Amino acid sequence: MQGKNVKKAAPVFSGVPHLIHGGDYNPDQWLDRPDILEEDNRLMKLAGVNSASVGIFAWMALEPSEGVYHFEWLDKTLDRLYENGISVILATPSGARPAWMDRNHPEVLRVNADRIKNLHGFRHNHCFTSPYYRNKVREMNTLLAEQYGNHPAVKMWHISNEYGGECHCELCQEAFRAWLRKKYHNDINELNAQWWTSFWSHTFTSFDEIESPAPQGEMHLHALKLDWKRFVSDQHIDFMRNEIEPLKRLAPNIPVTTNTMGTYPGIDLWKLAPYIDRIAWDSYPSWHNDYQPFWEQGAETAFLHDVNRALKPDMPYMLMENTPSLVNHKAFNKLKRPGVNKLSGIQAIAHGSDTVQYFQWRKSRGSAEKFHGAVVDHVGHENTRVFREVADLGALLSRLDGVVGTHTYPEVAIIYDWENRWAIDDLQGWIMERKHYEKTCQNHYKSFWKRGVSVNVISMDCDFTPYKVVVAPMLYMLKPTVARHLREFVEKGGVLVTTYGTGYVNENDLCWLGGFPGDGLMDVTGIWAEEIDSFFPTDRNAVVFGENSDGLAGTYTAFDMAEIIHAREGCEVLATYAEDFYKGMPAVTKNRFGEGVCYHIAARTENALMDALYDSIIAQHDIEMALGGEFPLGVTVQQRYGDGETYYFVMNFNDEPKQLALPGGIYYDYVSEKEVAGVLRLEQYGVAVLIRK
Ligand code: GLA
Ligand code: ZN
Repeated sequence: MQGKNVKKAAPVFSGVPHLIHGGDYNPDQWLDRPDILEEDNRLMKLAGVNSASVGIFAWMALEPSEGVYHFEWLDKTLDRLYENGISVILATPSGARPAWMDRNHPEVLRVNADRIKNLHGFRHNHCFTSPYYRNKVREMNTLLAEQYGNHPAVKMWHISNEYGGECHCELCQEAFRAWLRKKYHNDINELNAQWWTSFWSHTFTSFDEIESPAPQGEMHLHALKLDWKRFVSDQHIDFMRNEIEPLKRLAPNIPVTTNTMGTYPGIDLWKLAPYIDRIAWDSYPSWHNDYQPFWEQGAETAFLHDVNRALKPDMPYMLMENTPSLVNHKAFNKLKRPGVNKLSGIQAIAHGSDTVQYFQWRKSRGSAEKFHGAVVDHVGHENTRVFREVADLGALLSRLDGVVGTHTYPEVAIIYDWENRWAIDDLQGWIMERKHYEKTCQNHYKSFWKRGVSVNVISMDCDFTPYKVVVAPMLYMLKPTVARHLREFVEKGGVLVTTYGTGYVNENDLCWLGGFPGDGLMDVTGIWAEEIDSFFPTDRNAVVFGENSDGLAGTYTAFDMAEIIHAREGCEVLATYAEDFYKGMPAVTKNRFGEGVCYHIAARTENALMDALYDSIIAQHDIEMALGGEFPLGVTVQQRYGDGETYYFVMNFNDEPKQLALPGGIYYDYVSEKEVAGVLRLEQYGVAVLIRK
């Protein structure tokens, strides 16, 4: 673990030592309204905006017909922004294509899983293998780098936009087969063995017989589906690297990023992260929904922030997009209530972002996003609630220069892993409708969030040594290296928490033989999982704590899934099942292994059980809780530190005011700009950013 005196990281934009506040800016939609573009300068200053992401879908404005380029509008835009002190994140335009391109070069059009080819339209729908498109993108990016690589406003490249989806065209099928040949050493028998193709006579005699999964074709070879998902993720990343190459060659000093989508399943962010200089993501939570308390949506959003922070733990990430008010793409597009823009923006900073950026600066006049929230509404002036709230946050961010480059190095990690998720998503069995892998990880996370304990959300392949506690919910896929690392982690004194569904298959989705959890984790966990029971929606069981060395007590409801496990010799049974034919059998266990300990939770239970267990682990292992960890439900504190200073971000995710006791001493609050001691009172959705005096 890094000490709190760790040196701060460099600012996101070189030479700009401030938190970044800005967003997507699409002047290419307003080229016939120079008056509006001029007005943007005035409004950006008023809103406290210091950055604009330009050109994200501007291919048509840049190349209106094949080989004919128009850069004057972009020259003017960048000069104007520079003169007004606004830094630019310049995008490559590959997220959407002109109609002429799709007509002249139909190979760029994506083919869906049902093998039907798209028509022109929409966006984010190129073939990621197409040699034409790859060349064309390189050509465009080369021109952008030549033209703007030395422009003083340009501080970063925004590569494409939200890569996603998949293409099943013939070019992609060939690329998939080549990917498989490489993975299986050109040996079809090796592939057959790893894919268990003897099932239903699915054995292949040649790589040429292999096709990507299709609704009217192969959907049952789980290992094929898993490799296809790996290939799709790799192919997006390869496409991105092709985009980045000319930028790095011609403008090596400008960092690159790409905006991703939280835990969007299609791209393994751990594979993508090494190829970009900064992590950036787009956050669109369902604030004020009707299915959970407001704070729970806050905690689930925090989980996503902590995935992004963990991807590059030594430097702040970017909140590249969020809406200042509402979105347009959910079933119910509710307004962010007053105060929530500040709360959600500060939440990003609290978790390690050095930016708060919006989609978008000014509302489009037509098409699909004309009613999506933006800083400037159709009314065109600053006298709106949303503009005032954005400006208010801008003013607060401008007071927080000291936060720039500060860090969080958590003592706790939760494993949330893309490959594991892919395997669970395809798994046929268990409780098909309620596998809820991500939700389960988030539920474990909430116990720490409530206590102000920082958490890194990591992949199974990460290094576990920086952590005191590693929580591995539903780690269904267990790779041999991962099993070894977990074993070493516990042996050397780490605390590991596992659950039902741990260690059932290897990296190719073949079940471990010899009992679950497989591959040498049985002696670490101290259990053997013999069967797994799936519940109908109204079924319930209960988990009852008996006398135990952790002093845990009480009865907790179990639902959805219960593993029937046996405690091996030396493993302590903390709780047992209360009902059914496995009544009295272990439900929660604790096993000392080497210097460390492994807890196993065999059933899905109400969160209160996790709260109790993690409180006990936090106390026993002296895990740091920001500002003491005693907060009203829905209030949390996250901390960032660097160069000897610690910033405490206190956030009230409640629809009513709350207060908390501040541990000893006097604090300065950057929000109220006042000193505070003793009791801190927060309005509904209120925030405070404190340093100790
Ligand atoms: C995504 C895209 C943006 C915009 C927003 C709307 O994040 O990147 O271009 O469409 O959604 O919420
Ligand atoms: Zn394709």
